[in-house]
Amino acid sequence: MNPLEQEIAAEIARRGPMSFARFMALALYHPRWGYYSRGAGIGRDFHTSPEIHPLFGALIARQVAECWELLDRPATMDVVELGGGNGGLAASLLRELKQEWPACAAAVCYRIVERSAALRARQRQRLRGLPVSWGGVPRVVQGLVLSNEFFDALPVHLVIVRQGQLREQYVDWTGEEFRFVEGPPSTRRLAAYFQRVGVQPVEDIPLEVNLAATTVIKQIGRALHRGWVITIDYGAPAALRYDPQRFRGVLTCYAGGSWNYEPLRRVGEQDITAHIDFTALSRWGREVGLQPVGLLTQREFLRNLGLDAYLHALSERPLDLASWEWNREAMVQLAAPGGLGRFLVFGQAAGGASVLLMGFSGSQRAPLLRERARLRIPLLGGTDALPTEEG
Ligand SMILES: C[S@@+](CC[C@H](N)C(=O)[O-])C[C@H]1O[C@@H](n2cnc3c(N)ncnc32)[C@H](O)[C@@H]1O
Repeated sequence: MNPLEQEIAAEIARRGPMSFARFMALALYHPRWGYYSRGAGIGRDFHTSPEIHPLFGALIARQVAECWELLDRPATMDVVELGGGNGGLAASLLRELKQEWPACAAAVCYRIVERSAALRARQRQRLRGLPVSWGGVPRVVQGLVLSNEFFDALPVHLVIVRQGQLREQYVDWTGEEFRFVEGPPSTRRLAAYFQRVGVQPVEDIPLEVNLAATTVIKQIGRALHRGWVITIDYGAPAALRYDPQRFRGVLTCYAGGSWNYEPLRRVGEQDITAHIDFTALSRWGREVGLQPVGLLTQREFLRNLGLDAYLHALSERPLDLASWEWNREAMVQLAAPGGLGRFLVFGQAAGGASVLLMGFSGSQRAPLLRERARLRIPLLGGTDALPTEEG
């Protein structure tokens, strides 16, 4: 047993079985042994879009530039990134802005909201020299709140319906291993959740409920006075997300480059992640003034922002064959239909901000985004790369 497993077993011995949300919070974010608190993971156990190719951040920079223009080029504009991971999105986005839209770059106040101290340290090292601050969600945000694979890393409750009754799955310790036991729901919010998203949960199949996501989206909606929320993650609208016949997406764990469905094993040594219910983000967001502006696949979103033009321009760059292949493969991977390309991108607007964004509509209305004669293509292994020596 590792020290985290011992600590969780001791807590269960003292207080009885714990909700899976508590278990997952400890497994991922225990201050000393949690998977993310130790800084483990991204780039080793699993790969995220910003770390696959800096073009991901560069394309989102175009969206940021358009937002700045749509807000009438304010002197300052917030960009708040939730869950910065290794800092790849901030690095590529800010470098692209600085190169291509320096006036917008000068206006952007980039803030990373990151729970893990180890990851904050990594971000600080990678983003040295770039204008970034760290802290919580500011009380007032005018601009953009961005996230990639943030909501899927929030602790979820597990519920199951037995003979028409909603039950919760708790984690117990047998003396030898952790196992699930069932009991009444720990909070009324669980039953209310399904009513709210308009889904009758099926019987006898464990379902994840991300109450934390509803709390976070409300916090963001209250803070965002004018601007947009752009959430990139895997999942589906509730009707699909909670239909096991149509949607195959169970709690998944990542360790050492492979995945498994054993969240109670290797505690603190593997990522645990759940698919997002985008209907919940929409419903709870509406409560605090967030208006949905679009839900597209990542493939569609990146293509709307010009992915194909970059792929085309890459062919015209005088690269050696190996670099060309390496970059092209990674760029294509960002939009691969069976892979990252099927992630969803959800947009919400607040405070009367335009509901027509380039990423969702494909139309370039902002003059500043008009095609340049020559696209600057960020390349793998460039200044955006994660340093190999960790500080
Ligand atoms: C799956 S990783 C994604 C990282 C990064 N966005 C990427 O795409 O590579 C989830 C990130 O969210 C952070 N995180 C999770 N819960 C958080 C919270 N409540 N507040 C801030 N950061 C959080 C984790 O520490 C981690 O950096």
